[in-house]
Amino acid sequence: MDTIVIEGGAALRGVVPVSGAKNAALPVFAATLLAPGRYLIENVPDLRDIRTIAALLVELGAAARLAAPGVWEVDTSGANHFEAPYDLVKTMRASCLVLGPLTARLGRARVSLPGGCAIGERPIDQHLKGLEALGASIAIEHGYVEAARSRRLTGARALMDLITVTGTMNVMMAATLAEGRTVIENAAREPEVAALADFLNAMGARVTGAGTPEIVIEGVDALRPANTRIIPDRIEAGTYMTAAAITGGEVTVEGIDPALVANITGKLHEIGCVIKEGAHGVTVGAPEVIRSVNVNTAPYPGFPTDMQAQIMALLAVGDGASVITETIFENRFMHVAELRRMGADIHVHGATATVRGVASLSGAPLMATDLRASASLVLAGLAAEGRTTISRVYHLDRGYERLEEKLRVLGARIQRDPGQ
Ligand code: EPZ
Repeated sequence: MDTIVIEGGAALRGVVPVSGAKNAALPVFAATLLAPGRYLIENVPDLRDIRTIAALLVELGAAARLAAPGVWEVDTSGANHFEAPYDLVKTMRASCLVLGPLTARLGRARVSLPGGCAIGERPIDQHLKGLEALGASIAIEHGYVEAARSRRLTGARALMDLITVTGTMNVMMAATLAEGRTVIENAAREPEVAALADFLNAMGARVTGAGTPEIVIEGVDALRPANTRIIPDRIEAGTYMTAAAITGGEVTVEGIDPALVANITGKLHEIGCVIKEGAHGVTVGAPEVIRSVNVNTAPYPGFPTDMQAQIMALLAVGDGASVITETIFENRFMHVAELRRMGADIHVHGATATVRGVASLSGAPLMATDLRASASLVLAGLAAEGRTTISRVYHLDRGYERLEEKLRVLGARIQRDPGQ
């Protein structure tokens, strides 16, 4: 397995391009199951999870290939299987996004339950409740979800008991082919949900209200293929902004709409960073003093849980005590133990971590545990004194395209040692 090696202490400076968003691309790939035909999807990041969802589409009978750098050609004309097998789903829980499209178009879906994951149990009960509201029958057998419909799905009111991003996406996709109107209440407002709605509408769907807590879908008899371009990755952008802050540098993150990252730049500004917003990017200058702040993660437009580990690394070398409360996932503090091995002063009490800033961190051998925790360790390593090695970097490869290359361009002393 590959290892990343970082010599800390370099202030990062320069411009970094933002890649397409993993969490916008995955639902778009799943949505191609709603209408047979050929699709061109541009600005797709080169990530392991993208290759996994493409493999799943092929497993379902579709064709999927990388036609050019960042451009995937998908053809779902032959997609007539309905089973997403455990060995694929266990590597990527977002595979459950095929549930809604398969049930709506083929009338049947058999998707392995994703099982637990490092950051929490992450059930999909709300996905299933929403599909049942549309008339699907749901059974759980031998670790699989069996969804079926004896007749066309029927539009309905789908109240989500809690805000779920992929749950909202699954119900929205299924509702596009239902008979009549569906209203999703307490819907997730993430930009990736709005981007998916734009793609569905380009396919001939009639979705309004995406990005608000209430999404209305007027069902249509059939959809047609469409081409699309994946929106930029706001979490990748936030990660590089935080890299500038923690190393005492100044980085311009290019190709991101500042409005998409306002919840992140707002917190960085509170910490003392100098933020300059442009038409197509944001420049973040490190603060004189990293001020301690409190952070509560929340569904969009709140502070993103996917940035919690990264901001914790920054606050670990802040001035004073910060309190971080993780309200979305029940076990998303796995980076704490590793940061403490670098000298961070962090104490966890249930869903809350108290971070007392230290003057500096010291490099150490670390182990990545999940995607965003790994990013936190990279940020800490960039700022630490001495050498940091991070093993199990395949976690990073799920969500960060060409990470070392992009950081090296900014002046980081970082390399990847291929696994033995
Ligand atoms: C999406 O996951 C993202 N993944 C996650 O990003 C992100 O952390 C999360 O949204 C929150 O923003 C993708 O979009 C592929 P949820 P998702 O359903 O949809 C509970 C990353 O780092 N819940 O919004 O799976 C759930 O357990 C990943 O890129 C239920 O209880 O998250 C969690 O505590 C990590 N029942 C909370 O809701 C359900 O049916 C939010 O989960 C669904 C969710």
